[in-house]
Amino acid sequence: MADHDNELNAWDRDHFFHPSTHMGMHARGESARRVIAGGEGCHITDTAGKRSLDAFAGLYCVNVGYGRTEIAEAIAEQARELAYYHAYVGHGTEASITLARMIIERAPAHMSRVYFGLSGSDANETNIKLIWYYNNILGRPEKKKIISRWRGYHGSGVMTGSLTGLSLFHAHFDLPRAPVLHTEAPYFFRREDRSMTEAQFSAHCAAKLEELILSEGPDTIAAFIGEPILGTGGIVPPPEGYWAAIQAVLKKYDILLVADEVVTGFGRLGTMFGSTHYGMEPDLITIAKGLTSAYAPLSGSIVSDRLWQVLVQGSDDFGPMGHGWTYSAHPICAAAGVANLRLIDDLSLVQNAGTIGAHFRRGLADALAGHAHVGEVRGDGLMAAVEFVEDRDDRRFFDPARKVGPAIAAALLDRGVIGRAMPQGDILGFAPPLCLTEAEADTVIAAAADAVKSVLG
Ligand SMILES: Cc1ncc(COP(=O)(O)O)c(C=O)c1O
Repeated sequence: MADHDNELNAWDRDHFFHPSTHMGMHARGESARRVIAGGEGCHITDTAGKRSLDAFAGLYCVNVGYGRTEIAEAIAEQARELAYYHAYVGHGTEASITLARMIIERAPAHMSRVYFGLSGSDANETNIKLIWYYNNILGRPEKKKIISRWRGYHGSGVMTGSLTGLSLFHAHFDLPRAPVLHTEAPYFFRREDRSMTEAQFSAHCAAKLEELILSEGPDTIAAFIGEPILGTGGIVPPPEGYWAAIQAVLKKYDILLVADEVVTGFGRLGTMFGSTHYGMEPDLITIAKGLTSAYAPLSGSIVSDRLWQVLVQGSDDFGPMGHGWTYSAHPICAAAGVANLRLIDDLSLVQNAGTIGAHFRRGLADALAGHAHVGEVRGDGLMAAVEFVEDRDDRRFFDPARKVGPAIAAALLDRGVIGRAMPQGDILGFAPPLCLTEAEADTVIAAAADAVKSVLG
């Protein structure tokens, strides 16, 4: 066994090109490596036998928790019956058609169709192409620019990496490249003018957006994309009145809204969709992660009826749409999605995310209250973050070179709990499976408080 572990480590170092990893350190064996072998409920186990409570649900995706045999069996059954057929020129399978129906039944009322992909990134690529196509059908070839927010995360392709507003995803890749503009992040804690109230800050964000639209020319702006609650950018709920103020500006200039619900879709905020949670009325909704709880890769672009009607006119004018992926609506992934959505209903996981989320966030805030280096504890539903600062009164941040966030995440892991050091700032993030119990929430809170104490005193 030990020999095989050594062999795996060597193969890993020599052949596996990992995403979002320090390549040199990994290849030289200088950084943490972990081979995950199993999962059950909210826990994972590695090949060394170490068990961890996964309070980030992988990459906020294993919403139903690990080891669900209902989904495993649905996947096996589909693979035996029909492993693959494509969805081009009107083909479907029982699983993909059923899943489309289940998604629309759960989506906000004005949505009508689902285009399937495999990742959040490719679904956002689809969204942008649909938006360009839409404006071409309407005879508005200039209306093509997309506005995103600094600190937004929308993927790491060429277009979606450009939409993403985090420097790590731009630097040294020649991004952003595409016709993408970024506007102010709705990050109340980091607002420049600290005298502003939340409502004033929301009005300020909307005013900055309008300023950008006017300076570029409203006839050149096609769409605005945003996560209902900022995720990878720091787990930041929108300030009071933010979405109402933003949507008023978008309506004024006939600009489409894309709600990127890759993280928030299917229950994470204690509601089926984050759009309804915050009163957003998007033209497109991006879904992925929670759609299958990551038991199989699947994403989707949910299209509003208003947009759909124009797309239909487009194929009448131009012929079939030239946009497709080989694995779109893959039956094995769709079968996983059907079983997953049933399980979310049967186990009342959306409600659980709301009630346990409130308990978790309250407990975390209480446990860290008054700590000299805790600037803010925030979140919504089953998403939470702790932001660390050097000086609380001055809101002075730590020098990033000190890597305070990663040190606290490492201390947390030593205590048997996985959190995530968010990439920009010293921010410890949590997004556990939606089946988290109260006892597990309390374990995460106690471990987090102890980890913070061990690093920052
Ligand atoms: C909001 C959001 N959109 C898009 C993506 C990209 O998804 P993927 O990594 O599946 O391409 C992510 C991934 O974390 C995300 O959080």
